[in-house]
Amino acid sequence: MNSDAVTMEKIVSLARRRGFVFPSSEIYGGLGSSYDYGHYGVLMKENVKARWLEAMVRERDDIVALDSSIILHPRVWEASGHVTGFTDPLVDCRFCKLRFRADQLGEAQCGAKPSKHPGETESCDLTEPRHFNLMFSTRIGAVEETGLDTYLRPETAQGIFVNFKNVAQIARRKPPFGIAQIGKGFRNEITPGNFIFRTLEFEMMEMEFFVPPAEAEDWYRYWIEERMQWYLRFGIRESHLRVRAHEADELSHYSSATSDIEYLFPMGWSELEGIANRGDYDLSAHTEASGTKLEWVDSEMGERYTPHVVEPAAGVNRSLLAFMVDAYDEEVVAERPRTVLRLHPEIAPVKVAVLPLIPRNAEIAGRARALYEELRRAVIAEYDDSGQIGRRYRRQDEIGTPFALTIDEQTLEDDTITIRDRDSLAQERIPISGARAVVLDKLAQDWRTPKPG
Ligand code: GAP
Repeated sequence: MNSDAVTMEKIVSLARRRGFVFPSSEIYGGLGSSYDYGHYGVLMKENVKARWLEAMVRERDDIVALDSSIILHPRVWEASGHVTGFTDPLVDCRFCKLRFRADQLGEAQCGAKPSKHPGETESCDLTEPRHFNLMFSTRIGAVEETGLDTYLRPETAQGIFVNFKNVAQIARRKPPFGIAQIGKGFRNEITPGNFIFRTLEFEMMEMEFFVPPAEAEDWYRYWIEERMQWYLRFGIRESHLRVRAHEADELSHYSSATSDIEYLFPMGWSELEGIANRGDYDLSAHTEASGTKLEWVDSEMGERYTPHVVEPAAGVNRSLLAFMVDAYDEEVVAERPRTVLRLHPEIAPVKVAVLPLIPRNAEIAGRARALYEELRRAVIAEYDDSGQIGRRYRRQDEIGTPFALTIDEQTLEDDTITIRDRDSLAQERIPISGARAVVLDKLAQDWRTPKPG
């Protein structure tokens, strides 16, 4: 299938049909820009996060993990510049009463005439752009008068900066070193659409890398390359990834340089991850506001400085969307259409399916069940005995299961089963006794997508 024919509608439909992602609060009519994740969505999201954490923490010596609170002291957001600077320019239409991002009018639909963009019809009556803060406010404490107004965090990064001293002391690391965190962020986004690309709440995978100031530029380049390699390693096609440096007027309030890793989503090239050179902006701002010196002190060397920060910040949900889009494929096999998610085995939610060919046959079902029990101890496996075998294969193809094992009448004669490869559709007979080892070995092999670039 020509990859450019992968539409967002097809992804939304598959995600819903197979229970990866549902609209949130659906029985009440749904809530714009909010989604819930079903079984396969959760498993796949967990895989994305696990691969990121492995690459950041398990495979390196210079990064430690952190899990900070979602609700922080309100002064954190004043010091970080988010109260004044974390805004979008918005315009309202006095005629259709809709609100639009002033910098994205060309992508929005006019409320009165959806074939036009806001401002393009005679009845459009747009206000001047106004700055609208993206943080969700909340209140701590039950008593109105004594409560404390604060925000749900719009990025996990600030939880890392305010813990810099704690972590640096306990981790006994000297710059360059990093702190990695995965957690939810919340933004009052007013641009709906594009499925889970931009939502009100989402999971972020952020790593703040603290470096000697003179090394910041080199580390910035290093992390752009490192993060690009991560997406390639887990199967995203190189032709669908690119790096784009921000123009000066796009930079966030804290950044002196940012590059986005962009993916060619169905709606066009869009940000997948941002890598920012934050300089000493955050540590200096919190030092000044809190009175606690957030700096690196090496008494042996007589060194003292505020480290600069290089930050790769990725979205879990947006990565999941990119993995799904990149993996989605349709083909005709034996004159029947097949939809398949050609996911990297380490990203696929289920690794292997066990399918008894004739479930009514107690001996076949028993052998299949025993094999499934053996496999599930090692990997996420699924046992499926409902419906025709063709339908069962198709279900597994649509959720991206790399291997399916079929137990049939021949198994009862010679103790062999069939292993079917999701991508090539090749089927091979292997001894049932060695099936677990074969599956684990195949899952560990290098994988490249068979989809053309
Ligand atoms: N601390 C840096 C930071 O917050 P960002 O570019 O605003 O940077 C990082 O966010 C990543 O989080 C983005 O590249 C994107 O993948 C994801 N992200 C941001 N806003 C999002 C939203 N509203 N919905 C889903 N993902 C989002």
